[in-house]
Amino acid sequence: MEDRNTAMIVLLLLCIAAELQVDGLSLDVCASCHPNANCDDKSDGSGKVCNCMYGFVGNGRTYCQDKDECQIGASKICGFQTTCHNTYGSYYCTCLSGFNPSNNMDVFIPNDGTHCQDIDECTITGLCGEGGQCRNLEGSFDCSCMLGYEVQNGAAPFHPHTDKAFCKVVDCGRPVPAEDTVLLSVSGTTYGSAAMLVCEEGFVRRRGNNRSVCEADGRWRGGDMICEEVDCGLPPAAPHSHRLWDQSSRLGSRVIYQCYSGYHNVGRGNVTVCTAAGEWERPPVLCKETLCGSPPIIESTVQVWDGGSAPGSRVLYVCKEGFKISGGNNSVCSETGQWTNPTLTCQAECGPAPVLDHSEVVWHNQSVVVHRCVEGYHSWRGSNISVCDSSGEWRSATLTCIEIKPPVHHLRVLNERCVKWRAEKYEEDTEKYKVTYTGSRDYQRSFHDKRKRFLSSKADELQLCLNLLPVTNYSISITAASSRFTASITTNTSLTVPPAPDVYYREFETPVPTLRLRRAPNKLDPISVYQVFVLPVEGIMIFDCSSPASSDPKIKSSSEYITGQFDVQHVGTEMNFTVGDGLLYGGFFNAPLQNGRSYYIILRSVSQWKSALKSSCVLWAKVTGTSYVLRVSSLSATAFVGLVAFFIIGGYSFNWFLKRT
Ligand SMILES: *[C@@H]1O[C@H](CO)[C@@H](O)[C@H](O)[C@H]1NC(C)=O
Ligand SMILES: *[C@@H]1O[C@H](CO)[C@@H](O)[C@H](O)[C@H]1NC(C)=O
Ligand SMILES: *[C@@H]1O[C@H](CO)[C@@H](O)[C@H](O)[C@H]1NC(C)=O
Ligand SMILES: *[C@@H]1O[C@H](CO)[C@@H](O)[C@H](O)[C@H]1NC(C)=O
Ligand SMILES: *[C@@H]1O[C@H](CO)[C@@H](O)[C@H](O)[C@H]1NC(C)=O
Repeated sequence: MEDRNTAMIVLLLLCIAAELQVDGLSLDVCASCHPNANCDDKSDGSGKVCNCMYGFVGNGRTYCQDKDECQIGASKICGFQTTCHNTYGSYYCTCLSGFNPSNNMDVFIPNDGTHCQDIDECTITGLCGEGGQCRNLEGSFDCSCMLGYEVQNGAAPFHPHTDKAFCKVVDCGRPVPAEDTVLLSVSGTTYGSAAMLVCEEGFVRRRGNNRSVCEADGRWRGGDMICEEVDCGLPPAAPHSHRLWDQSSRLGSRVIYQCYSGYHNVGRGNVTVCTAAGEWERPPVLCKETLCGSPPIIESTVQVWDGGSAPGSRVLYVCKEGFKISGGNNSVCSETGQWTNPTLTCQAECGPAPVLDHSEVVWHNQSVVVHRCVEGYHSWRGSNISVCDSSGEWRSATLTCIEIKPPVHHLRVLNERCVKWRAEKYEEDTEKYKVTYTGSRDYQRSFHDKRKRFLSSKADELQLCLNLLPVTNYSISITAASSRFTASITTNTSLTVPPAPDVYYREFETPVPTLRLRRAPNKLDPISVYQVFVLPVEGIMIFDCSSPASSDPKIKSSSEYITGQFDVQHVGTEMNFTVGDGLLYGGFFNAPLQNGRSYYIILRSVSQWKSALKSSCVLWAKVTGTSYVLRVSSLSATAFVGLVAFFIIGGYSFNWFLKRT
């Protein structure tokens, strides 16, 4: 700044070459110029002249003294709102306080157009403090307060730097609610704050404003609400109903609605309340006339009804023809609009109860019959109840009564060989049977045939073949394992044809031939004998093997005779017998054979028990004397010859061969 100031000072020290015109002497004019003067050409070109430099005044030669430019007044030389400062040979300007040079320099010389202009102090915010309002003045400013603020410690306008005054916000204090109102909310107490008012409980706003505002003059305004106590007046009536009301029509008062008798409420409720709006709620009650409608239909009945369906109406039921009544016979329309349930039923008459085989009725009423099996029968399956249904038909019991039978029954013997029986058991069950049988013989004390068989079967009919021995009394028992039930039966077996012994057929030419045999295994030894027949060969001979053995040898129809008899049980495995030795064998005389005659010797095996007799015969030997041919029954001679050949080969005989015709 100093430099600039220095620079701004224009030193117009010019050497003025003044033309010194002294009496016609031509002098160097310029040399005579004052140091603060310049040597200039004369305007008419007639020489030089000394002129004081700018900022100096004088004659240019002897003196050029400083010129005080400020003398003519600052406003004239520097402009408005300035201060002029003279310097040696020059000057400069500054702005008054509150103003600013337009070139923004501290000092200026107005010849460049610079001037002083007012400073707007109000651009600085907060200059007047909170709530203050700045006003710019020429070279200055002042403050006042905004709306809602008031000056403290002074009066407006004020200058914040010089005065103690300041602005303070207006405070309305706490609002006081009007009568019957209460403050709902207050945003503050200062200017612009608002308070909301509501009516006191039980009061309702009639008119006025519910909002109070703190205004600039420090007063609350606007909360002029007028509240009146709620009065709902007379409660509204609802059709077909009474009101139960305590005559209070204040807020919250209640009225109860009750439907008239014969009506019932189908609405959402039965209470209405006096609301804050000063009105009763719409009554929720809705009374409808109570009606039962048509009485219920009951099967097989006819209704006797006058068509009334209001509470107390009645309907009478009568059973249709062919049905009989049970239970109550009427229904009443109740207060709740429903027909009471008639307990009545009309039962079709079913007639006599169904009869089931082997059963009896144990209990019955008009519609139900309970059956049970008679004694000796048990129920196998099915229901034991017959029901008379509404159509008058019996739904008959399905009970099946079956005879109570032992698990094994119908036991019998077939063909002296097999036992047969019936099983009594549940279908599909497998039963285990034990069959034991014991045989005994009167004629053979030592004999015991004791055997067991086991059998499992699902069958209802069973058969088991046992290898029973002949002429034996058997006792057969069958035990069903599941029930440990035993059924028994006795049986006897009949006499069978005894087997013939093995003989060694021979032909002899001696009258005392010794014949041999090997006894046949026989199970009937105690009742069996071997008989040796002698048949003299004479004419046509017929030998009947099954003829009863005459024990008396003297009674003989033909020439044949028994020459010896042996109890089989005393015969060893082999036996030699000599025909015609003159001894007694088993009471028979073994008579000597006649020389020169031919004989056939036949061995007969006989079993006899009581009146039963069975026998078989073999041709044992031929004693030759003459050559007769034996004819047996209807067989031809050739057949016999063939047979003899057979004897020789096999040594066996078969009883059928020598049987009677
Ligand atoms: C105030 O009154 C206005 C209108 O008058 C209403 O809309 C508003 O709900 C009221 N405020 C309260 C708090 O009652
Ligand atoms: C007969 O008895 C049955 C079974 O106890 C019962 O359900 C029914 O109502 C009775 N019927 C009559 C007509 O008494
Ligand atoms: C079988 O028993 C009967 C009667 O007890 C008896 O008379 C008969 O002799 C017996 N038969 C046998 C072969 O034992
Ligand atoms: C043997 O049984 C038959 C029938 O099976 C009977 O007629 C006969 O009398 C019985 N005999 C004896 C000796 O028991
Ligand atoms: C029967 O006779 C034969 C020969 O003659 C003899 O070898 C046998 O021992 C006799 N048998 C008996 C049981 O006497």
